[in-house]
Amino acid sequence: MKLGVNIDHVATLRQARRGNEPDPAVLARLALEAGCDGITLHLREDRRHVQDHDLKRLRNFVKTRLNLEMALSDEIINIALEVKPDQVTFVPEKREEITTEGGLDVLSGLSKLKDVIPRFQKQGIVVSLFIDPIQEQIQAASRSGAEFIEIHTGAFAEKFKTGSFEHELNQIHKAVHWAKNCGLRINAGHGLDCKNIVHIVPIKEIEEVNIGHSIVSRAVVVGMEEAVREIKKLLR
Ligand code: PXP
Repeated sequence: MKLGVNIDHVATLRQARRGNEPDPAVLARLALEAGCDGITLHLREDRRHVQDHDLKRLRNFVKTRLNLEMALSDEIINIALEVKPDQVTFVPEKREEITTEGGLDVLSGLSKLKDVIPRFQKQGIVVSLFIDPIQEQIQAASRSGAEFIEIHTGAFAEKFKTGSFEHELNQIHKAVHWAKNCGLRINAGHGLDCKNIVHIVPIKEIEEVNIGHSIVSRAVVVGMEEAVREIKKLLR
């Protein structure tokens, strides 16, 4: 199973001061050096974390796979077609949400998706749809022309914290089965971490997981000692 590292929250930390640090490009480079298979970022319409220049800089050096998460918005579609990531993942976007809540409603967006998807595919850009593990949505995804779906694992991850997550895990297994029957390729993501991932890894049909918040959070923890040591040395 491959790993795409989502660097949005490096940009969240930078935007807290509207400065240059931490630089998502530097952290993306470290993640690639550590062996991840691709970098994911979400250029939101409100630009709350990732900025347009981040996308352009990352495009210049990410040679494995740059996956852009984006809403079905004309502004972002035009930017994506110009910058040409290797893959785009369409996600729903609401201004007031903290993170992507719920998957894309492919059924109601089907005609727009059928219009937009070939524009990306003509440029050699792979298209994925971020959807909940719901049969009707998966079947609609296969009619949209997208090659991949990314199964939203958020509900499973939330329930995992309570210890009772069998229903949500079972939905993911069913979603994998429905998607394979439709000829779709499968990724997964949202809320995954070192603990809950052990239930996802055995699902061989899932080609890649996209993980952001837990990796960035862990990086802050494991980097703290070194950061403090550096300053203490200078103070001494
Ligand atoms: N996949 C998609 C489509 C997402 O929108 C996100 C969150 O930006 C992720 C994966 C990563 O989720 P998390 O930050 O919870 O690991």
